[in-house]
Amino acid sequence: MQLDLPRYTERFGAISLHGVQRVYELDSGFNNGGLTSEFIRRIGNEEISEIERKMAIVIPIKGERLKLLEGVLSGIPHDCLTIIISNSPRQPVDRYKLEKEALEQFNRFVGRNALILHQKDPGLSDALRQVNYNSLFGPDDTIRNGKAEGMIIGMLLAKAGGKEHVGFIDADNYVPGAVNEYVKIFASGIAMSNTPYTMVRISWIYKPKVSESGVYFSKWGRVSEITNQYLNSLISYYTGFETEIMRTGNSGEHCISLKLAELLTYSSGFSVEPYEIVNVLEEFGGIVPTEYQEAMDKGVEVMQVETRNPHFHEEKGDEHLKEMFSGSLGSIYHSKICHPKLREKIIEDLRSRDMLVEGQEPDILQKISPFKDIDIHQFAKILYERATSFAHSI
Ligand code: GDD
Repeated sequence: MQLDLPRYTERFGAISLHGVQRVYELDSGFNNGGLTSEFIRRIGNEEISEIERKMAIVIPIKGERLKLLEGVLSGIPHDCLTIIISNSPRQPVDRYKLEKEALEQFNRFVGRNALILHQKDPGLSDALRQVNYNSLFGPDDTIRNGKAEGMIIGMLLAKAGGKEHVGFIDADNYVPGAVNEYVKIFASGIAMSNTPYTMVRISWIYKPKVSESGVYFSKWGRVSEITNQYLNSLISYYTGFETEIMRTGNSGEHCISLKLAELLTYSSGFSVEPYEIVNVLEEFGGIVPTEYQEAMDKGVEVMQVETRNPHFHEEKGDEHLKEMFSGSLGSIYHSKICHPKLREKIIEDLRSRDMLVEGQEPDILQKISPFKDIDIHQFAKILYERATSFAHSI
């Protein structure tokens, strides 16, 4: 792959937030590494494969069409460990069983290393309790619904599997070739980074909308434009300079080095992606004290890379967008580094959209603790023994 070196970087404490980088060539051959020009870096196929071998790809899924899941599986490079975390209904039709069968059938042909687990498996709850990791449980003492919750479980399995990087790809993608590109971008970002504490986020070149009059290649999702605006304001209130650096606030497709991933606090459900950025700013921005001095010394990099493929996925309707919108803004509003003036703006915005009434604040979102201190071998041992939905196929 050939892509831009970061052209502009916003520095915030120990964090380097790089502006959007473009891809010039999806496959730049075996010729390994190096600069093509002063501005473009070539990452050869061998280097990409090497990183893919150390990478797990987590697919969170809840009731998606199997055809789409099969397409996504076919787009993931062979050497990555594929981890499906499902919260699909088990009755009246056992959708999870169908997903498991589809994965097993796919693997019979391709022989890939893959895991699948159901989010509500009581054996998984046992394993989490035994290692005293309780932040995924709801009031009824079972694991909560939520995409973030699925992602954390996937990260635990990636860590247990000895992987160094973890990427996330939604299960509802229509284009396997796009999935493949996302993973190549993840690997290229990791190859370009100068620290073990790295996050690579996908910026879609287009998110097309299909209507009766044809396909419209829009650039922004309805929620992401606003989320980015508030994340940028969060930064600007500290630096005193307006910025447009953040372009991927809601990006579901992203990758994190495990060394960084295990230090972060996460926010529940669909607020997970914007809060990853908020938490990186909280922990490593130098505003509030942190216990992670090693990461402060080595620095944290956030890269945003624009794809060549457009992003075609299932549209889930207005209610879902509202949930994502209030979750995204709520995760910024409740941050300990959110400036009071920005809080006022968020309240005004939510009120003008009839999403809050006078005197009301955005809901406080459930937080998920860092998983760095979990005894991961003990977790894996209990999971293997007790989780009946768990399957590992090679
Ligand atoms: N394991 C698990 N548990 N997976 C879930 C759950 C859950 O409770 N809820 C949803 N998922 C899966 C979906 O099946 C899908 O694969 C993925 O999480 C994303 O959910 P969607 O419902 O498809 O969300 P979206 O497409 O509207 O939004 C996506 O893109 C946004 C950016 O445009 C998500 O990735 C958002 O997080 C992202 O901000």
